[in-house]
Amino acid sequence: MATKVTLIPGDGIGPSITRATVRLLGAAGAEISWEEQVAGMAAVAKYGDPIPDETLDSIKRTRVALKGPLETPVGEGYRSINVALRKSFDLYANVRPAYSILPGGRYQNLDLVLVRENTEGLYVGIEHYIKIGDDPRAAAEAIAIITREGSERIVRYAFEYAVKHGRRKVTLVHKANILKFAQGLFLDVGRMVARDFAAEVDFEERIVDAMAMNLVLHPERFDVIVTTNLFGDILSDQISGLVGGLGLAPGANIGRHGAIFEAVHGTAPDIAGKNIANPGALMLAACMLLEHLGDIERARHVRTALEQTVREGKTVTRDLGGNASTDQFTDAIIAKL
Ligand code: NAI
Repeated sequence: MATKVTLIPGDGIGPSITRATVRLLGAAGAEISWEEQVAGMAAVAKYGDPIPDETLDSIKRTRVALKGPLETPVGEGYRSINVALRKSFDLYANVRPAYSILPGGRYQNLDLVLVRENTEGLYVGIEHYIKIGDDPRAAAEAIAIITREGSERIVRYAFEYAVKHGRRKVTLVHKANILKFAQGLFLDVGRMVARDFAAEVDFEERIVDAMAMNLVLHPERFDVIVTTNLFGDILSDQISGLVGGLGLAPGANIGRHGAIFEAVHGTAPDIAGKNIANPGALMLAACMLLEHLGDIERARHVRTALEQTVREGKTVTRDLGGNASTDQFTDAIIAKL
């Protein structure tokens, strides 16, 4: 029986790269029945709401979605797409794998996965100005919330991911030497969870500043990395940079009530409608989706075809050094399946 998956084509290059990705999965024989829904500017045009209830209801039913990039309208009265998705599905884990595909990069043979806590920390949005004397904005205070429950579920997710994907080590990144309470709690809980997995997965701790340096000097030493929201935001882009940027960077948002897979890049308005966008990042996100559905072999198959096409470099899009269109690149990958 085909699994129902919500498909959100998105804005800008979104429809073109989602079409390419759906075609690739179809050619690979994935048993998915797509439930197409709108979000972003496409949804504003249709419903006056960038994340309509129909779309949220579809993900509530299917519990899994492939999402093209969305343009967030600026202005009053619009719901924030990311906030609505995060709240509706409690998307607490942001998973960003990064591995070397393009030859000739600064680092070869990198294969890292960053697991970022996505609902707590300094990004909870509790901040305010403090008035001193006549100055209403003399100081500003932002509060980071770290909970035992939130820390436990993200570290446990990282270890379970490591076990499921045959990975050898989890590195917990923190700043508990300075933020002794908030980061200290995250570290303590992390150590406790690590004990449950001690037989299967190694565990190490790194202070975030040293980690940033080590990721540049010796990225090959790391495997699965788990950290809090702000550090994860910064380190995930750093890791994308290590393997050559956003063109082949997928991401997954995993929650208690659903999972949403997407490319890390945005709508690329400068190249939208030209059939030249690189669909690779969304295709790799679709491979994560297949793995999430338990279709591990097919994910490997699709990923290998994509990697071979990119490494050959003959029929690749402009951003990867070629001159193929989105469709030609997709055809070349399909031919390798
Ligand atoms: P962007 O990622 O859309 O574009 C940055 C640069 O990378 C552009 O030169 C673009 O042409 C290029 N690029 C991006 N993806 C590409 C691809 N697949 N193939 C070839 N070239 C590609 O970032 P930007 O310009 O900051 O954001 C544009 C819009 O996207 C904004 O409205 C932003 O809010 C939205 N956005 C949405 C995201 C999402 O839905 N997950 C994530 C990031 C941005």
